[in-house]
Amino acid sequence: MNLLIKNIHTLVQVEDKPKLLIKGKDMAKLKTIKDAYLYIEKDIISDFGKMNELPKKYLASSKNKIKEIDAKGKFVFPSFCDSHTHLVYAGNREIEYIDKIRGLSYEEIAKRGGGILNSAKKLHNTSEKDLYEQSLKRIEEIISLGTGAVEIKSGYGLNTEDEMKMLRVIKKLKVNTPLIIKATFLGAHAVPAEYKGRQSEYVDLIINEMIPMIAAEELADYIDVFCDRGFFTVEDTERILMAGLKYGLRPKIHANELDFSGGIQAGVKYNALSVDHLEFTGDKEIETLLQSETMPTLLPGAAFFLGMIEPPARKMIESGLPLALASDYNPGSSPSGNMKFIMSLGCIKLRLLPEEVINAVTINGAYAMGVSDVTGSIARGKKANVFITKEIPSYGFMPYAYGSNLIDTVILNGKVV
Ligand code: NIG
Ligand code: FE
Repeated sequence: MNLLIKNIHTLVQVEDKPKLLIKGKDMAKLKTIKDAYLYIEKDIISDFGKMNELPKKYLASSKNKIKEIDAKGKFVFPSFCDSHTHLVYAGNREIEYIDKIRGLSYEEIAKRGGGILNSAKKLHNTSEKDLYEQSLKRIEEIISLGTGAVEIKSGYGLNTEDEMKMLRVIKKLKVNTPLIIKATFLGAHAVPAEYKGRQSEYVDLIINEMIPMIAAEELADYIDVFCDRGFFTVEDTERILMAGLKYGLRPKIHANELDFSGGIQAGVKYNALSVDHLEFTGDKEIETLLQSETMPTLLPGAAFFLGMIEPPARKMIESGLPLALASDYNPGSSPSGNMKFIMSLGCIKLRLLPEEVINAVTINGAYAMGVSDVTGSIARGKKANVFITKEIPSYGFMPYAYGSNLIDTVILNGKVV
């Protein structure tokens, strides 16, 4: 069935000549059409324009099967593209939330066997079926919050069997849910308790056993390493990335969240699709990123939740870099996949303009997960993944009204969900 959305107050993030990413000064530009229509054929955006130029053939009649939605007073956005999540996890870590309120840092909690190892224990004791059910609920939640593409990482398994369990759950979510999903193997998320003091042996296990088995079942699209102080070194990271590349796994890495870890440089050296977190980014790191095709991705939900310093987002854009923003949805440092709130944090904490955050959570997020040719903007031929807002006065009202649910109708693959 085809779908006509008519009388749209403003159609946001329109592209006549689609770009794969937006950087520097251009991030403050956002093309919109006022009093617009959007025409969707099956699951693809086929046309859009001004209402007074709407071709008659797009109108519903007794002779065709076109569904019409009247979006008077409402805005239409491309769906959010959340390029960094860990939303497949077991249970929660609310207990650590209390520790954090009492003053313990993320690293202190991790050292006590909390943190990622706590999630690994819970995941080990949860069946694949149960893990799938818990994760499906989170997917349903983010769909209702406007996300149409999401990247999901493993990394709470930390042994071959449990990492594969996580990746199989992601594969099932790919098949059974309407959003675009990319899977990332993150065996190097933390050193498991049984390898304490033998970190390089754990890296060997990742390289010699996990990567080949995961590649054989085609369970991952990308590979990730938590390259930071107290986690994996640059040397570990390079070994793992090299092994992954042999199997066609492009890196997307956790870098420079806790220190100037060298992770940004290591990511760029191996042509990472993205490097993520980046609280510790200086001139050298910016220079390296400027010479690359790697998307710098900021995760303001994690910095907010952990009370960390903010990355120099303005300086990065003013140096000419692109930026993506993602939720980092995970039980330890960002237990939310609400991309509208991420936009608000982008504006308030990172001092980005509404236009910049919208580009960062749509087209640049899509680039950071390798799907900006098919989603991330309103362009002819792209996937019809969009949402209709409630009645709002401007697109800037979305990040401004940070606690209001302003999403009215979600359309994925051309269908109202
Ligand atoms: O992106 N920084 C590393 N990993 C996650 C946190 C995972 C966890 O604490 O469970 C992150 O913030
Ligand atoms: Fe993360």
